[in-house]
Amino acid sequence: MTQDLTWSQRLDAADDVVLNPSTARPFGSILAQRLGAIGTPAGLTASTALGGAGAIVAASLFSGKTLSRRGLMKGAAASAALATSAGAMATVATATPARAAEGGSSLTFPALPQVYDANSHVADGYEIQTLIRWGDPVVAGAPDFDPANQSAEAQSQQFGYNNDFVAFMPLPRGSKTGDHGLLCVNHEYTNPHLMFPGLADGEIDKLTRDQVDIEMAAHGHAVIEIKREGNTWSVVKDSPLNRRITALATEFEITGPAAGSDRLKTSADSTGTKVIGTCNNCAGGKTPWGTILFAEENFHGYFMGDVEKTAEAENYKRLGVGGGSYAWGTFHDRFNVEKEPNEANRFGWMVEYDPYDPNSVPKKRTTLGRFKHEGATTVLDKNGHVVVYAGDDQRFEYVYRFVTAGTYNPDDRAANMDLLDEGTLSVARFNEDGTLDWLPLVHGEGELTAKNGFNSQADVMIDARKAADLMGATPMDRPEDVEPNPVNGIIYAAMTNNTKRKADQVNAPNSRAINRHGHVVEMIPPGTAADGDGANADHTADQYTWDIFLLAGDPSKPEDGAQYGGDVGPDGWLSCPDNVAFDSKGRIWIATDGGPKSGIADGVWAADVSGPGRALTRRFYACPQGAELCGPEFTPDDAAYFAAVQHPADEAGSTFDNPSTRWPDFDDAMPPRPSVQVIVKTGGGAIG
Ligand code: FEO
Ligand code: CA
Ligand code: CA
Repeated sequence: MTQDLTWSQRLDAADDVVLNPSTARPFGSILAQRLGAIGTPAGLTASTALGGAGAIVAASLFSGKTLSRRGLMKGAAASAALATSAGAMATVATATPARAAEGGSSLTFPALPQVYDANSHVADGYEIQTLIRWGDPVVAGAPDFDPANQSAEAQSQQFGYNNDFVAFMPLPRGSKTGDHGLLCVNHEYTNPHLMFPGLADGEIDKLTRDQVDIEMAAHGHAVIEIKREGNTWSVVKDSPLNRRITALATEFEITGPAAGSDRLKTSADSTGTKVIGTCNNCAGGKTPWGTILFAEENFHGYFMGDVEKTAEAENYKRLGVGGGSYAWGTFHDRFNVEKEPNEANRFGWMVEYDPYDPNSVPKKRTTLGRFKHEGATTVLDKNGHVVVYAGDDQRFEYVYRFVTAGTYNPDDRAANMDLLDEGTLSVARFNEDGTLDWLPLVHGEGELTAKNGFNSQADVMIDARKAADLMGATPMDRPEDVEPNPVNGIIYAAMTNNTKRKADQVNAPNSRAINRHGHVVEMIPPGTAADGDGANADHTADQYTWDIFLLAGDPSKPEDGAQYGGDVGPDGWLSCPDNVAFDSKGRIWIATDGGPKSGIADGVWAADVSGPGRALTRRFYACPQGAELCGPEFTPDDAAYFAAVQHPADEAGSTFDNPSTRWPDFDDAMPPRPSVQVIVKTGGGAIG
């Protein structure tokens, strides 16, 4: 950890550690030689030369052509294609990139020009409304926010810190209502020096027990009933459906194959099936039966102590447990692995709960594996099985898929409520020829036997990363959202960045060494029509194909190696794609986390996924300084877009006492407050 980084950047840097022992299969070297022989295009050093299908990516990069959707699938003949594509690189490297067809995009809003200041901004023709802020009352009877007199009791009833995932769940349940619903929001983590007076960034040893408990109450999740009147959105105060879920006090049930495992038993829970709290709730998803999935991502940082003194040292080291970025273990023994050695096995799961029942007990679904879950998104396959896609957000980690054993029953909600407790978790191997294999993580199969320490399916789920290593999964550049497009059936996976990838670790789906800007990969199930309808997509197939949607970065800087659908201009390029959403037309909206490192605000960019506007990204919304953008979400009628602004003012030297922005209140009595904003079109109507 270096002190010139902000709190969020240091947490990120803590995750920057490469924990995967099986990092990469080098493929670049032979190709690098061949490229060396023909000359390396400007902007690519020989050491970043691309392999296999990546060479074809590079070819279209330097020809300025839109990446061919199925181009990579022809990569089975990759070696034959190499001469052609490498030749294309050599001949077009100095050509001016072709300009995209003007007006080729279906988007009608004007690009928001680059801006990085104290406020949030949206494209002309739209307006921003602040819906709810850190500390605003959530449950009935909650006190108003008083930043000078915070308490865990008050915070447990108020909107938590660092809003991330956002889901709009229509009211009544099962409807497609666009003006009334439940907004379900994650509270991922806390920035103590921006929450409490008198603290410099990183001074966690000065935190009191009360402050730690406030932090724990500020983590978790919130449910708020919201509605639109005219073109204005507001929270329904004191709604009986409003709810807080916290790290401090909410009881969770553990279900699935790891429930009851000895490795999940603690002094407080001899059954291994009940746990208090959740943490680092990043992104999530929605199920077809109207429940919410939310992720436990960087749970490792909440645990102190020497993992070598536990029986779980190998497991904990693979996940980075024991680093202790928080002071929770100072006051709560269970967050010290030396005092409660199994507690960290009870975190790192996906949680499912029913937002329509404020008394429902959230369940940690161990079928979905234990790793640093970014989120989990679902699709109902045509054969009735429910398919969940998920990313493990760390450098060189993996993309996962879960397929339920049972099938969805549209007429019996209760019959679906535990559907996620049985099924098969698989991990993705992206092949150089443009195909993708799903490798099942099943006890007793392949290497997943007692010989390698797997004595049961519980072990496979608890040590999912190790199981995936042994099965030969492809290490990716920090898989964040992995989200099916409801229109075309293709899954879009955001790889946010990976500056640790070396030239000899480049592979086709992660085609740049020192990948500062990240990229978006398409995973294409069989049956998917090129430009249309995903209804026949087979989300349960063993083999898919894959393609590259875009390579982020500044196209005016050849060293970035950026690739979009054409010339996106200064207001179209983005860096560090993180969370994605789709509007009802199937257009992609990409929220970013890391733009300020490249001199641009984080925000959201939209693009078509097919036709002349494919991957022609356009900026729609920009965060205030110090913030990242989370939770892109639309109402079913596309008339509202929800922007979750996380860690505003998290910049070097910025504190509670002297913040770099007091967004969104701009009131000297108020600190900066993570908030959810809603964007509407001036006068109403569909966004985009
Ligand atoms: Fe919490 Fe992977 O972003
Ligand atoms: Ca995220
Ligand atoms: Ca992120």
